[in-house]
Amino acid sequence: MEKVLVVGGGAREHAICEAVCRSENVELYSVMHNLNPGIERLSKDYLLAKETDVEKVVNYAVDKRIDLVIVGPEAPLETGLVDALEKKGVKACSPSKKAARVETSKEWMRGLMKKYRIPGSVEYGCFIRAADAKRFISDLGGNVAVKPVGLTGGKGVRVAGDHFNGVEGAVKYAMEVIKNKIGGVAKVVIEEKLEGEEFTLQAFSDGKMIVPLPAVQDHKRLLPDDKGPNTGGMGSYSCKDGLLPFMNKDDYENASVILQKIVESLRKERCEYKGVIYGQFMLTADGPKVVEINARFGDPENMNILPLLESDYIKICHAMVDGNLSSQKIKIKKKSTVCKYVVPEGYGVKSITDSRIDVDEKGIEKVGAKLFYASVNKRDNGIYTTSSRSLAVVGISDDLYDAEKICEEGLKFVKGEHIFVRHDIGTRELIEKRIKHMNSIRMS
Ligand code: AMP
Ligand code: GLY
Repeated sequence: MEKVLVVGGGAREHAICEAVCRSENVELYSVMHNLNPGIERLSKDYLLAKETDVEKVVNYAVDKRIDLVIVGPEAPLETGLVDALEKKGVKACSPSKKAARVETSKEWMRGLMKKYRIPGSVEYGCFIRAADAKRFISDLGGNVAVKPVGLTGGKGVRVAGDHFNGVEGAVKYAMEVIKNKIGGVAKVVIEEKLEGEEFTLQAFSDGKMIVPLPAVQDHKRLLPDDKGPNTGGMGSYSCKDGLLPFMNKDDYENASVILQKIVESLRKERCEYKGVIYGQFMLTADGPKVVEINARFGDPENMNILPLLESDYIKICHAMVDGNLSSQKIKIKKKSTVCKYVVPEGYGVKSITDSRIDVDEKGIEKVGAKLFYASVNKRDNGIYTTSSRSLAVVGISDDLYDAEKICEEGLKFVKGEHIFVRHDIGTRELIEKRIKHMNSIRMS
C-alpha cells in the first residue's frame, strides 16, 4: 500500500484527494488548517496545521512514512516545503521553491519569458519608485494593469476601466502597492492592459514535456455579469472537446506551446518544473497572452478536470517526478463541466464567518452532481463558514448547458442563511456574451 499525503484543505484539495483515492493501492493522509469534512472522510489520518508550517508538515510526512506528497496551494511552495521534504528523502509531486517562482514572483516570470523569447509575453515594467512607475504608466496612456509583485491570492490586481480610470488612477494604486508593501514587497508590476477573453490551461509537467488538459474558463469577479471585486474564483466551466466556445484549436495549441516553452526554459535555468503547471491566458486579437502562471492546479479549475481523469492519478504523479510522463497514456472523459462555488455572504469584501450551512449530500448525489468541500469547519452539529469559499458543486454532462442544469439542481440541496452563489456561470446567456465579445475583439 502506497501512502500519499495531500497538503491543503480547500475544494481543489478535496478533488485531488478524491482522485488519489481512485488510484490503485493508495492510502490517503492529509494536512489542512481547517477541518474539511470531505477530506477528513477520505483520509486514513490527518493533521490539523498550517500548510506553511514546513517543520510540522515534514515531521508528519516522515512520521507516517509517506511515499508521495502532493501540495495543493501556492503558499507552502513559496516557503520551500517541497525542498524540505526532498531533503528528508520524501518524494513530492509539486515544484521546488525555485521553480515555483513562476507564480510567486511575477517579475521573475515575466523576465524568464523575455529572456527566452517565449511567445505570449506582454509589455511590462517593475518599479520600486513611484516616479518611474508614473512615467511607464503615462507612456502606456494609463491603459494598464497594476499588480503587486508578490502573492495576493488573485485579489491584488487592478485593471484600467474595471478598477480605476486614466493615468492618475493607475499611479495612485501603484503608489499604494509600493507604500503599503501589498503582496509583501515594496515593488509594483505595471503591464499593458490585455483585451479579450480569459481562459485557463492546466498541464502535467515532468520537467521536460507537458501534457495539456482541457481548457477552462474561471470567473474571477464576485457578482453576476462580471461585476464587483476580483475573488479567488467564483466558478468555472469546460467543454467536452477540450476547447472553449470562443476558442479554436490553434488558440489551444498556441497556449500549450507557451507552457511547453516555459517548462523548457525552467530546465535551462536548472530548476526543473515537476507537477501541475497552470497558465492564465488572455485570448487577444493576436492570440493567447500570459496573464499569469501558477505553480499548481487552479481553484476552481481543478474541479472541472480531475473528476474527468480516467487514468490512475498517482501513476501520473510518479511519472511527473521521475521525468517519464511520455510513458503514460492519459485518458480524460470527454464531458462538459460546470462548477459553481458557494461562498459566505460578504465574500470578497467582508465575509460572514461561522455561519451554518446545511448540505444534503444524498440529494446532491441523487441529481448526479458532485460536491467538493472547501474552507469550512466541521463541528459536532454541522458545517460552518470561514472567511474563504465554502464548497463547490459540479455538474458533468455531454452538453455544457445540461451540466449547468445539473450543477443548479445540486445547489438546491445546499442551504444557509448567509451564503452566495454566482448563478450566471455556465448559462447560455453569459456564454453567448463571451462568444460575441471574442468575435468583436478578433474583428477589431
Ligand atoms: P492575476 O492575479 O495576475 O491573475 O490577475 C487577476 C485578474 O486581473 C486576471 O484574472 C485578469 O482578469 C486581470 N488582469 C491581470 N493582468 C491583466 C492584464 N495585463 N490585462 C488585463 N487584465 C489583467
Ligand atoms: N482560479 C484562479 C487560481 O487558482 O489562481
